[in-house]
Amino acid sequence: MEPITKRSKIKDLLTTEKTGTRVNIKGWVRTFRSNRFIALNDGSCLQNMQAVVDFEKMDESLLRRITTGACLSITGMLAESLGKGQDVEIIAESIHIYGDSDPEKYPLQPKKHSFEFLREIAHLRPRTNTFGAVLRIRHAVAYGIHKFFNDKGFYYLHSPIITGSDAEGAGEMFRVTMLDPVHPPVDEKGQTDFSKDFFGKETNLTVSGQLEAELGALALSDVYTFGPTFRAENSNTARHLAEFWMIEPEMAFYDLNDNMDLAEEFVKYIISYTIENCMDDLMFLTKRAEDEEKSKPQHQRSEMNLIDRLGFITANPFERLTYTEAINILKNSKPNKKRKFQFPVDEWGIDLQSEHERFLVEKHFKKPVILYDYPKSIKAFYMRLNDDDKTVAAMDVLFPGIGEIIGGSQREERYDVLKRRIQEVGIEEKGLWWYLDTRRFGTAPHSGFGLGFERMVQFITGMGNIRDVIPFPRTPGNAEF
Ligand code: 4AD
Ligand code: MG
Repeated sequence: MEPITKRSKIKDLLTTEKTGTRVNIKGWVRTFRSNRFIALNDGSCLQNMQAVVDFEKMDESLLRRITTGACLSITGMLAESLGKGQDVEIIAESIHIYGDSDPEKYPLQPKKHSFEFLREIAHLRPRTNTFGAVLRIRHAVAYGIHKFFNDKGFYYLHSPIITGSDAEGAGEMFRVTMLDPVHPPVDEKGQTDFSKDFFGKETNLTVSGQLEAELGALALSDVYTFGPTFRAENSNTARHLAEFWMIEPEMAFYDLNDNMDLAEEFVKYIISYTIENCMDDLMFLTKRAEDEEKSKPQHQRSEMNLIDRLGFITANPFERLTYTEAINILKNSKPNKKRKFQFPVDEWGIDLQSEHERFLVEKHFKKPVILYDYPKSIKAFYMRLNDDDKTVAAMDVLFPGIGEIIGGSQREERYDVLKRRIQEVGIEEKGLWWYLDTRRFGTAPHSGFGLGFERMVQFITGMGNIRDVIPFPRTPGNAEF
């Protein structure tokens, strides 16, 4: 029989003074020491609740089933704890076992596991302290993002996930099709006939909700999207996922400067919000990272710990400079002169690699950097052409340890210029008739940007690999769980 007492979350028991009352908790056993102390965790917070068992009063066969990983319901009196490590504990009166766990086979032992190993058991890793902390912070970051925009009068716009257009024009899309993979219908030219497909045309998973967000901004003024995006780029790095979440605000009547101001205010707000709401988890992750740092050689250790780093970001203005200024700094930099960069910086117009971005942020300015006015040849078709006819009103926010965290721009609102740019870069104009239409009917100056959600969570949690800040990562060769 299950105990009748209403279940309490451990987080609530630790924050309200209820000692002397009978309570019930439910959760998973982390450890069971000396046949006496159960550490139970229900994920509501980092802390476990200690339940003290009087083994003389408990059924021995039941006690034997209390093992790491088992799921229990424990009823008893909440009492002040005399032991070290917790203020309160539960004096167990009755224990119900929902789910046994074979201690020999349970992959999560009460010890440190490598992140690589934990990725292989992603179905169980939320039960570890580190992933519990990361997932709670991930939630708080998402909530803080909605709060930021809601408080500013932005409307949440749901952009489609299945789309016929390639917003970024980079051709890195996952196809969505119902056609027979072995014998697809073909047209006269012998090519796959997508007019016979489910949507009557070729469709893909979206790489960005921006184009639709622009339609929303040109009606509701300020909107944002927050949804999954997909990129079939074969990048096996610690900062790339094939499926990631993006937040894309889009604002009518904003120029590039307004856009940069909002981006800076936005990321600072999210970090402050997390500091205010997730201190326990942040402290845990900070300690974890510090322990890890100790195993590195002195010159590779970071100067600030995680919490100090977060505080530093919120307290200092970001550095803003043009792409051209950045190229000059990079050209004359020590690593460039000593040929230490894998991609040497020799001429204006090159695309910046992450080694260049990280040099600017981590070595040169030692703070977040916003680069703007990039060469048009390395940026997307929708960015507003500057008067020099060479650069576009683009901006990227670069973060220490991460590199690019935000990409955005003022949009090309002039019909003729936009049409010309679409032709120049060789995108099919036909599929974008609706996008061009907004430039024919009441066009307006507008701007927006995209924040990579996982890169933001990665920065806030200090996790080294982006695969460890999303519950179930999708990367080349990996779609388990
Ligand atoms: O710079 P990106 O490609 O910009 C856009 O998609 C624009 N449509 C945004 C806009 O203006 N509305 O991507 C935006 C951000 C990047 O700065 C990066 O943080 C993240 O999305 N990102 C990725 N995150 C994880 N894995 C990947 N493969 C990513 N690609 C981009
Ligand atoms: Mg970008």
